[in-house]
Amino acid sequence: MMEQKLQVFLLVAISQTWVAVYSNNQDFLGLKSLDWKNKPPNWVGADPCEANWDGIDCSDNRVTSITLSSMGLEGQLSGDIEQLSELQTLDLSYNKKLTGPLPQSIGNLQKLNNLILVGCAFSGQIPGTIGSLKELVFISLNSNRFTGLIPPSIGNLSKLYWLDLADNQIEGTIPVSRGNTPGLDMLLHCKHFHFGKNKLEGSIPETLFSSNMTLIHVLFDSNQLTGSIPLSLGLVKSLEVVRLDGNELSDDVPTNLNDLTNVTELILSDNKLSGPLPNLTGMNGLHFLDLSNNSFDTSDFPSWISTLQSLTTLIMEDTNLQGPIPVDLFSLPNLETVVLRKNKLNGTLDIGTSYSSHLNLVDLKNNQITKFANSDEVQGIDIILLDNLICLETTETKANYCSNSVSHSSNSSYVTPEKNNCIRTPCSSDKISSPNCLCAYPYTGTLNFRAPSFSDLENETYYQILENSLTSFFEKFKVKVDSIALSNPNEVSSEYLNIKLEIFPSGHDSFDRKEISDMGFALSNQTYKTPKTFGPFFFIADQYESYADSIEVPSDSNKSSKTSISIIIGGVVGGLAVVVLLLLAGLYAFHQKKRAEKATELSRPFGSWDTNSSSGAVPQLKGARWFSFEELKKYTNNFSAANDVGSGGYGKVYRGTLPTGELVAIKRSLKESMQGGVEFKTEIELLSRVHHKNLVTLVGFCFEQGEQILVYEYIPNGSLKDSLTGKSGIRLDWMKRLRVALGTARGLSYLHELANPTIIHRDIKSTNVLLDDRLNAKVADFGLSKLMMKDGDKDHVTTQVKGTMGYLDPEYYMTQQLTEKSDVYSFGVLMLELITAKKPIERGKYVVREIRLAMDKTKDLYNLHSFIDSTMGLGTRLIGFDKYVDLALECVGDSGVDRPTMSDVVKEIEAIMKLAGLNPNADSEPTSASYEYSSKMSSSNPYGEDAFDHSGTFPPSKIEPL
Ligand SMILES: *[C@@H]1O[C@H](CO)[C@@H](O)[C@H](O)[C@H]1NC(C)=O
Ligand SMILES: *[C@@H]1O[C@H](CO)[C@@H](O)[C@H](O)[C@H]1NC(C)=O
Ligand SMILES: *[C@@H]1O[C@H](CO)[C@@H](O)[C@H](O)[C@H]1NC(C)=O
Ligand SMILES: *[C@@H]1O[C@H](CO)[C@@H](O)[C@H](O)[C@H]1NC(C)=O
Repeated sequence: MMEQKLQVFLLVAISQTWVAVYSNNQDFLGLKSLDWKNKPPNWVGADPCEANWDGIDCSDNRVTSITLSSMGLEGQLSGDIEQLSELQTLDLSYNKKLTGPLPQSIGNLQKLNNLILVGCAFSGQIPGTIGSLKELVFISLNSNRFTGLIPPSIGNLSKLYWLDLADNQIEGTIPVSRGNTPGLDMLLHCKHFHFGKNKLEGSIPETLFSSNMTLIHVLFDSNQLTGSIPLSLGLVKSLEVVRLDGNELSDDVPTNLNDLTNVTELILSDNKLSGPLPNLTGMNGLHFLDLSNNSFDTSDFPSWISTLQSLTTLIMEDTNLQGPIPVDLFSLPNLETVVLRKNKLNGTLDIGTSYSSHLNLVDLKNNQITKFANSDEVQGIDIILLDNLICLETTETKANYCSNSVSHSSNSSYVTPEKNNCIRTPCSSDKISSPNCLCAYPYTGTLNFRAPSFSDLENETYYQILENSLTSFFEKFKVKVDSIALSNPNEVSSEYLNIKLEIFPSGHDSFDRKEISDMGFALSNQTYKTPKTFGPFFFIADQYESYADSIEVPSDSNKSSKTSISIIIGGVVGGLAVVVLLLLAGLYAFHQKKRAEKATELSRPFGSWDTNSSSGAVPQLKGARWFSFEELKKYTNNFSAANDVGSGGYGKVYRGTLPTGELVAIKRSLKESMQGGVEFKTEIELLSRVHHKNLVTLVGFCFEQGEQILVYEYIPNGSLKDSLTGKSGIRLDWMKRLRVALGTARGLSYLHELANPTIIHRDIKSTNVLLDDRLNAKVADFGLSKLMMKDGDKDHVTTQVKGTMGYLDPEYYMTQQLTEKSDVYSFGVLMLELITAKKPIERGKYVVREIRLAMDKTKDLYNLHSFIDSTMGLGTRLIGFDKYVDLALECVGDSGVDRPTMSDVVKEIEAIMKLAGLNPNADSEPTSASYEYSSKMSSSNPYGEDAFDHSGTFPPSKIEPL
């Protein structure tokens, strides 16, 4: 459909060196360095801000936020992240395949507020440099595989509010300040110390806590901490949740713990605490108390417990309690659960008549209870008296309370009910029915509550409260949500409660990446706050598989069984699709024709394409489209300075974004540089005809309102020259240089041998080889190309000599007879430039001559050490270097007939690569190592004059005798 001849008459032409177009800003390089699998598909082009890359937020054209929660990213975090020097938020949460260490250089992100890596697989030490991030407010490194010590430097983060290191393998002691060494005791604004599930050891330092602190959550559970609970803990009056369970803490519980009157959850179980049971009369807001499995002195059941009016849960297993259980315990109004196993409680169990209406479990297994006073009255409560004296009596063995089975369980089958009595129907594919009975792909994950204040998992009121809070949060949230569903609450281990969360999209089947990252961030960053009953939480998302914006939109038929009927239907649908496509194609062609007619009109003020003049006939275009000037104005923000990515003698190059999101380089000629039609026409005709991986593609052109504009695909990494000179910040090692040589050779070989008619480039040089985001070479600038007319015996064309000095074939220069071998010569020079990284002619010295003179085949690296660009990696072995130099020198042979063809060259470079252990057909994967911060890099225009050294001045005056 793109093949129709556009009736566009083009009058004037541009013929200038086409230049690399890319944004040289460090943010782009920083983001490029994030060499991850499954990056958002719209991460293309070179301007993350302009192009609205998913997960990227900008301010003043600088990247300030990366939120890529639950994207399924795979890979490591490159140290080059440091280039994003304005970054405030880094949220990579829930990417379970992000591995490797957190780079030291993270310490250079001086503006960072939020560092959120929860639920990934990062490992190694947490770098101490993190302590130089003075703006950090939120650190969430939990649920990774970090090892090593807690960096004391974290103590320098005076603005820190949230410090979550839980669920890693962090070891050593908790650092406190000493002399000049910082420590966590300095974190006076921090509210959250979440260090649970690690390998922390040693005692909790006495100086860790002070009355100046504002901590509300101290969660040190499941570590290997020893020594006593520090007295200073009792000074932190703001504390609400204290978990020290699952350690090896010993000695007496400090009596001043009782001063922590705001504590609602206190869990000290599974330690070696001794001495008298703590007297917690003062903690009258306590909801949840667990003192199990310690070595407290034998004591009677403490009377103060019966005064804790908010208590829902009392767990004192194996705590040396003796004597009777006071009856008033059970009348605490909120009491749900009492677990007092393995004590020496005796006498009669009497829960009285005014026991809590919420009571559902009294587990007294393994005590010495002899009687149960209320056995006839109590209903709906699981009472367990197994392994008590009472259950030894034969009359009692059949009693419910002497059995091991309980109706109460540590999980619940709760599922958010259907709304408005709608009826769920089975969903096709792997969609799920929402509470509104709509089939969709929800964002799912697990809410993990670290210290809920309740224990009755069967009381659905709690889940409804949570549901309502989530619903009202997401109602006001920027992402449109149909409904949220909770299910499968269960107590996984040591009082952690998990609940599955599903968030359903509204208006469509699935979320797009932006929505996922927004929701992920709301949960990872604790923007969403749970009802207080649920206490501290973290969320772990499942990977989202069904992005609305992914290329392969999951369709309902994806997983349906492939019966012959479905194939037939598929065929019919396919046939219909073809018809629809043909119709669309027809419409498009019609539309294009209309457009072209309009263009003809528009261009008329400048005259028509004059078939009698040198401009030749109407351009024959293939695949390239016509753009109106108005369109291009829109795509470039009115040719704004911000979109200006380069300029030269001929005019300017702008970066533009098509409505499809495709980035383009828009080359707009200055009036004074507009030239005759032939070369312009040649360029657009040739460019539109050739399609090869190693050739820059022409997207379209514009000719109206006195403008001559070419629209090219956007090549992000600039020219080879920019990389060789260090300007682009891309470091090319030997392997990458081989790939660039191969790509360029393949592009040329295509022009010479596969394009019809054959195309001779005539201006191969390092500024005309561009590098894409995979560092694939793309040959640009066909402005000087010549069609080779294969008419009869002619295998060359006689032309006016054009080219660039240094690369110019001397034979062509002398004979004016152009053949493909002239390109081979230029390519040979380019090969030498690739290893020297210098201009072919520098200070009057010509590289071809100099190398021939210096070369000594009997010596290592042919005695060319002084020529070799040191950034190529001199230390590493340059495998195949000798063969490479041999090939380059063959290419620059004096006589064209002695030079290899480009396809010979391709084969030889492939052979060299195989020798070096490289797969010539594999894409180059730009690794983080290929980007190094270069001090030469600046925000100044990367398109220096160098890029425009397209030289029309011949004969070249400075070439030494060849
Ligand atoms: C204890 O909690 C109350 C109510 O939430 C609050 O007003 C008070 O400031 C807290 N006390 C401390 C020392 O933080
Ligand atoms: C517990 O402490 C309170 C005051 O803090 C005191 O009145 C009470 O007698 C103590 N109880 C026990 C059993 O020591
Ligand atoms: C309960 O145990 C205590 C301490 O072992 C003992 O003094 C008391 O007599 C016992 N009471 C009954 C009823 O067995
Ligand atoms: C469930 O919990 C709520 C909130 O604490 C409470 O009001 C309600 O009475 C409880 N229901 C039962 C059956 O215990």
